[in-house]
Amino acid sequence: MENFEPEIVAFCCHYCAYTAADMAGSKHIYYPANVKIIRVPCTGKVDTIHIMKAFEKGADGVYVAGCLEGDCHFKNGNTRAKYRVEQVQNILKDLGWEIERLEMINMSAGMGERFASTALEFTKKIKQLGPSPIKIINTEKHQQVAD
Ligand code: FES
Repeated sequence: MENFEPEIVAFCCHYCAYTAADMAGSKHIYYPANVKIIRVPCTGKVDTIHIMKAFEKGADGVYVAGCLEGDCHFKNGNTRAKYRVEQVQNILKDLGWEIERLEMINMSAGMGERFASTALEFTKKIKQLGPSPIKIINTEKHQQVAD
């Protein structure tokens, strides 16, 4: 798995993490291209099905990045997101997956450096974990068809 480049989906709140990503970009702070950002109006809009779909479609890791606790523009969207992330972590655990493939992160709009370091650290972690179990199964299926 030396050359494994993980696919990572980051659901980013428009008011904080997305703006922080923008700031990282405008300050030319490096973060890995492995992270694909999906902008959401608030992390409270991220449902369990969205996270599961991201894994189903090939993400090796997913994180939900919302406003700092107590700073959600819709009062408790980030609290709901945290609860949903925990729910999906329990599902992953039941499936025998590493729960570290999913994380809830909080930051403010001004944290461009934090956005970049989070993206970097999360990518490193998923690289160490290797491809998601779905990806491994799909690769094996393709090899069987090709054989
Ligand atoms: Fe940012 Fe709710 S508005 S998490």
